[in-house]
Amino acid sequence: MSDPIPPSPGNLALSRKEDFKAFADAPRRDQPELLTMAALKGLDDGARAAYDRLRRERHANLGPVRTPQLAELHEDLWDIVDSNVQDGDKAKGAVAVDAFPGLGKTTSVLAFLREFHRREIAEEGEWTADGHERWPVCRVGLTGNTGMKDLNRAMLEFFGHPGRARGTTAQFGHRALDCVLSCEVRVLALDDLHFLRWRASSGIQVSNHLKWIANEFPVTLVMIGVGLADKGLFSEGGHGADAALAQTGRRTTRLGMRPFTIDTEAGRREWRQMLLALEQRIVLADKHPGMLADDLSDYLFARSTGHIGSLMTLINRGCQRAVRCGEERLSLDLLDGVKNDEASERARKELHAALETRRLTSRPRRGGTRVA
Ligand SMILES: Nc1ncnc2c1ncn2[C@@H]1O[C@H](COP(=O)(O)OP(=O)(O)O)[C@@H](O)[C@H]1O
Ligand SMILES: [Mg+2]
Repeated sequence: MSDPIPPSPGNLALSRKEDFKAFADAPRRDQPELLTMAALKGLDDGARAAYDRLRRERHANLGPVRTPQLAELHEDLWDIVDSNVQDGDKAKGAVAVDAFPGLGKTTSVLAFLREFHRREIAEEGEWTADGHERWPVCRVGLTGNTGMKDLNRAMLEFFGHPGRARGTTAQFGHRALDCVLSCEVRVLALDDLHFLRWRASSGIQVSNHLKWIANEFPVTLVMIGVGLADKGLFSEGGHGADAALAQTGRRTTRLGMRPFTIDTEAGRREWRQMLLALEQRIVLADKHPGMLADDLSDYLFARSTGHIGSLMTLINRGCQRAVRCGEERLSLDLLDGVKNDEASERARKELHAALETRRLTSRPRRGGTRVA
């Protein structure tokens, strides 16, 4: 689970192709050297400030970890994307990555897109036969209340198309299609698609628009969002006159992302692997093997309820505090002072009670006995 895989995009907005390329080409972030407490105390002020800065950045970017969730999603995406390399006008299968927030959809899909971009450029070269720049991936992140025109414009923004300032929805759409064709885009990823204005007055319009993209763009369409199924993306036209969307739905494979769970031995083992992977990446002078995986396993599960987003927030903030206050290790006391997001805090209280009474544990057995 600790394979070196891409750095997280950091502060890149990834809304333009140059940003995406920088993300795809970035080398792996180096882990700052782990110093002993004595060596740490021996640093002069300047060296200490520089070291702490490196560690701040490291702890803010511990991922992505190659979790089973990420690995499974990647396998499915490779299957679908590679089987879409068929000639002619056969409509290609689309993908919907549909899961609650904070489960790693964006992170995992970006890691896939990065690998895909690198593979395609390595195999096909930076230029198309017609002399255009090759862009195997077009990736657009939607923001609040996006309409069809904004979606088309966002694609043009990605390519830096000069015609992105002015035009109708249809014109923007055709320009985007031009870019996709000339840059030989293979995967079009639309992140946070739930921000698209759906039902209000324009449900049919959205349906038709997605159908148009799915039919006309020779790409694997990867739609990412929360509650896409509820929006009728996969319905077979059951309610209303949404035949257009139903057609897209039949060609769309739904992929989920699951939280970590501790109600089976396999689940507990995955959780432990995750904590072990994080332990290795943390750069705190007084850390010890088992700091997370043995000593804090139940506690971290309760506070995150198995959601990777909450876990990573907590670990990141905890590490920042451990450096700042000189404790140089993560402990229950220290983490208790660190705030996490609301959703996990609410779920935490319930779970905490169950773990307290030992009805539940997050730790796997080892050779029949539970690891204490
Ligand atoms: N595989 C991973 N390894 C490490 N951190 C991850 C991983 N997946 C997600 N995260 C962290 O969890 C948080 C939420 O992930 P994100 O991809 O934004 O979720 P979503 O798109 O499903 O809302 C991010 O801060 C991200 O850094
Ligand atoms: Mg996201």
